[in-house]
Amino acid sequence: MAHPIFRLAARALNWPLRVLIRPYPRLNAVVWDLQYALGLWRYLDHGQDPTPLELARRVVPRPRVLDLGCGTTVNLALPADGYRHYHGVDISRAAIRRARSLRRPHTSFEAADLLSYHTAARYDAVLLREVLYYFTVDEAVGLLRRAAGFLDPGGQLLVWLYDVDSPAGAELLRALRGCGLAVHAELAAGRDRAGVVLALGAVGTADSNASSPS
Ligand SMILES: C[S@@+](CC[C@H](N)C(=O)[O-])C[C@H]1O[C@@H](n2cnc3c(N)ncnc32)[C@H](O)[C@@H]1O
Repeated sequence: MAHPIFRLAARALNWPLRVLIRPYPRLNAVVWDLQYALGLWRYLDHGQDPTPLELARRVVPRPRVLDLGCGTTVNLALPADGYRHYHGVDISRAAIRRARSLRRPHTSFEAADLLSYHTAARYDAVLLREVLYYFTVDEAVGLLRRAAGFLDPGGQLLVWLYDVDSPAGAELLRALRGCGLAVHAELAAGRDRAGVVLALGAVGTADSNASSPS
């Protein structure tokens, strides 16, 4: 979990960063690289969370996974026989370098800005872990709808939101629930990760077992 002082600083800087830097992808990339170089995100690299791949494997047993805003991926459990392919995308070249250095099988990586990201590839699961806060609510909803187009039929978007209690976090969660995609499930993020995981898909594909947060 982030140190409370760092979380406070991140919250205070969110608005100026969004307005002054995020519209400029190269500058935004430099700022993220700097944060990684300063070790501000090192706290994320403890342990390997099996949940993202477990949820993706509910879609198909060996999923093709796209991870948008993947970070270093050090915290992600990726057992070699558990997925067909994993593609990680992040604006930070530093994070992508670290992710590549892990040399996991059947993986590929790309440095790109999610605000304009497109791909012709299709995936069984698209992960968005703790990344949507860095966009306006409209941009986040637009990104989700675009990312839904990267899914094969029956595929799912899996969205992690740590902060759902602050007014901004609650507003984002409300917007995602109502963004026009089907809500398959809403789960407690669990372990030391507070917040929720939303499983979303194309309209008409939600089943009747959608869970509520516990
Ligand atoms: C809090 S970190 C989360 C990393 C990883 N998903 C995790 O849960 O461990 C947010 C990540 O989003 C990436 N990011 C922020 N804005 C982005 C953008 N516009 N395009 C691509 N990646 C972005 C950052 O570089 C950073 O790696």
